[in-house]
Amino acid sequence: MKRISLALAGTALSLLAAQSVAGDAAAGKAVWEKFNCASCHGPDAKSAIDPAYPILAGQHADYLAHALLAYQRGATGAPASANVRKNAVMGAFATQLSKQDIDNVSTWLSTQPGPLKVAP
Ligand code: HEC
Repeated sequence: MKRISLALAGTALSLLAAQSVAGDAAAGKAVWEKFNCASCHGPDAKSAIDPAYPILAGQHADYLAHALLAYQRGATGAPASANVRKNAVMGAFATQLSKQDIDNVSTWLSTQPGPLKVAP
């Protein structure tokens, strides 16, 4: 019985992990356009206007969502840490996004072709 419970718990955890970012890609594209993220990150999210600006196209959705939440936390004045990113520009943009916006734009960006993905 104990073994079955552990197996079920493991399955539940892996399902949770796989669905940590459940965004709508089309709605995410609309978020990208509404906030004109392309003005810095480039229209294809990989041709940024400055080489110091990160490539977003093809990045893992959960990483992108984590980064955007970390900028939100940083904008509240929390000290920098692994989960808190301090950046005036991205803090200002991230605070305007809802959690759903973050999931949607992260999902859309992860589906864009880019150099960050390992070929299947
Ligand atoms: C005014 C320029 C500018 C705009 C507009 C902008 N960004 Fe950024 N973005 C940056 C810069 C600069 C960084 C790197 C900041 C740092 O050092 O943490 C960044 C970092 C990021 C990161 C972290 C990427 C990583 O690899 O860690 C994400 C995600 C991101 N931006 C998403 C967005 C989204 C989504 C929008 C639109 C809502 C947006 N950005 C609009 C300049 C911009």
